[in-house]
Amino acid sequence: MWSNISLYACLHFAAGVLDVHSTVEFRSGQTGLDGMKVFPSNDTTVDWWYFDVVSWDHKSEIVITFYTAGAAFNQSGTPNMAEDVRIGTIGNGSSGEYQGVGDWLGSSDMSQYVVRLDSPSNGIFGEIILKSVAPPHLPCTDDLSAGGDLLLAPGVGWVNVMPDADASVYFNWSGTVVEFSGTGYHDKNWGNVPMGSTFRSWYWGHGRAGPYSVVWFDFLAVDGTEYKSSYVARDGKILNAACEGIKVRPFGANSTYPPTTTTGSPSGFNIELLVQSNDG
Ligand SMILES: *[C@@H]1O[C@H](CO)[C@@H](O)[C@H](O)[C@H]1NC(C)=O
Ligand SMILES: *[C@@H]1O[C@H](CO)[C@@H](O)[C@H](O)[C@H]1NC(C)=O
Ligand SMILES: *[C@@H]1O[C@H](CO)[C@@H](O)[C@H](O)[C@H]1NC(C)=O
Ligand SMILES: *[C@@H]1O[C@H](CO)[C@@H](O)[C@H](O)[C@H]1NC(C)=O
Ligand SMILES: *[C@@H]1O[C@H](CO)[C@@H](O)[C@H](O)[C@H]1NC(C)=O
Repeated sequence: MWSNISLYACLHFAAGVLDVHSTVEFRSGQTGLDGMKVFPSNDTTVDWWYFDVVSWDHKSEIVITFYTAGAAFNQSGTPNMAEDVRIGTIGNGSSGEYQGVGDWLGSSDMSQYVVRLDSPSNGIFGEIILKSVAPPHLPCTDDLSAGGDLLLAPGVGWVNVMPDADASVYFNWSGTVVEFSGTGYHDKNWGNVPMGSTFRSWYWGHGRAGPYSVVWFDFLAVDGTEYKSSYVARDGKILNAACEGIKVRPFGANSTYPPTTTTGSPSGFNIELLVQSNDG
């Protein structure tokens, strides 16, 4: 059974090539909300666009991340290197073309994204369509007007463009066709310092339960400060978008808190969310 596909696409700059001071945006309104935030990339910056879909039966998932990253950025997955990359904005949405890997195209109001993979070297061709069912938010607010704070934690920017979406996935992977639908998600992260130098650990996730769309972020900085963001929408209306009212802690195996560099994945997380009811 098909259960899990992860694809990282990366434009990776070689060490020393870009020894410049980049301008890194941490306030909304300078560019489209989902646009590039780093001008230009240098050795220590990173800018990425993340998409995932989990099938309704929870048995299949796909994760796709498009990066532009400097030499100091490394992570466990082996990226598919792209040589020619074009990233644009369309209103508040974004588009990107990673030659030899794939592309994405968002609508100007960020309500719909299409991600295509066209990677002959991986033998993979396909398309994901995401239609938003819950409005975007910033780390601490759902107010998208210009000047909003985009810092999740020092050095780390985050916008959650699609907290929850209805999504369909179609792939042909070397002759095997994979097709499913489920809940989708899209966000972007970026930073002006090597990401690995900013945190000890982070817990992040999203999901849908009945009419509720939920996103949480609990980020433990290197100095031990905890930065949080919580989001709850019901039937597409935001009940809570704030950087408080949330606590995420591991339970079961590997539930040491705060986790150390050798702590494995825990059995699960307890997520406490405070939601204001506006039903009166
Ligand atoms: C990259 O730009 C950031 C932001 O201006 C700066 O803090 C950093 O030192 C630069 N890195 C390099 C390697 O020049
Ligand atoms: C990541 O890069 C740093 C240097 O920038 C290096 O010290 C570290 O070992 C690398 N980690 C991995 C997992 O490759
Ligand atoms: C982006 O969204 C904000 C908030 O809704 C709006 O004020 C702004 O005009 C939009 N920008 C573009 C380029 O569409
Ligand atoms: C899937 O791709 C293969 C080539 O990798 C092609 O031969 C086949 O016709 C494709 N199947 C479908 C259903 O598109
Ligand atoms: C706990 O961590 C160990 C070591 O990383 C790992 O092998 C194990 O699968 C983890 N347990 C659970 C329940 O994930």
